[in-house]
Amino acid sequence: MRGADVSEYVVRFSVWARVQHAAVIALFALLLLTGMPQKWPYVEASRWIIEHLGGIFVVRWLHRAAGVAFSVLLVVHVAVAIGGVLSRRTRPSMLLSVRDFRDAVDFLRYCLGWAEAPPRFGRFDYRQKFEYWGLVFGGFVMALTGFILYFPIAVSRVLPAELIPAAKVMHSYEALLAFLIILVWHLFAVLLSPEAFPIDTSIFTGKIRKERLRHEHALEYEELVGRE
Ligand code: HEM
Repeated sequence: MRGADVSEYVVRFSVWARVQHAAVIALFALLLLTGMPQKWPYVEASRWIIEHLGGIFVVRWLHRAAGVAFSVLLVVHVAVAIGGVLSRRTRPSMLLSVRDFRDAVDFLRYCLGWAEAPPRFGRFDYRQKFEYWGLVFGGFVMALTGFILYFPIAVSRVLPAELIPAAKVMHSYEALLAFLIILVWHLFAVLLSPEAFPIDTSIFTGKIRKERLRHEHALEYEELVGRE
């Protein structure tokens, strides 16, 4: 059994996964804290944040430093994931398949009372996969547009200068979208949903209760523990 705990827990997340998640929380929070006051500079709260962080000059450089760190993390994450799959050390458990879209429809049917049982999920369910790919693609959009805003003169020497205001609009609205998705979707799933309430700690401790695994990731449970 892969990474099994002795009694009622099994190991769900590696140290590397937990470190990445902690780094994303810290960097994303810092990027929001230093980015949003630039988007809405005349709001009272923005002025307060800018003043308490040491002024707009500090805020802009903190944002750029966090942006560079976030971009490096993203590239390293993708490289390690691809390397792991190619060398067969890890399985591509986040890859989307037709089954995930079918699961989404089946789960909706279950919620509407049109199906007797919910679909049974593997290591990651369709919601987790959609969110993961949203983060990866959204992350690349933020990194690309962020670097265009970081080096506007260099960019406009090789590409049309109209790209700069376009990048600003994309960066600004993608930031808002990402923030709302984290707030409404992710935080609901890991804090308030009936399965997780008051908090799902597995990504911090690395462990999950066997009973929860059986309930939420039945197919993975059967693979790890066997049918009971
Ligand atoms: C992924 C999380 C990120 C969030 C939530 C975020 C958020 C924001 C927001 C809200 C703005 C203000 C846009 C406006 O004025 O309408 C901004 C500006 C900016 N961002 Fe980001 N950003 C992120 C990532 C990045 C990355 C990866 C970089 C790359 C270095 C970056 C570099 C910049 C730059 C250069 C500006 C223009 C302001 C300045 O010149 O300092 N950002 N960001």
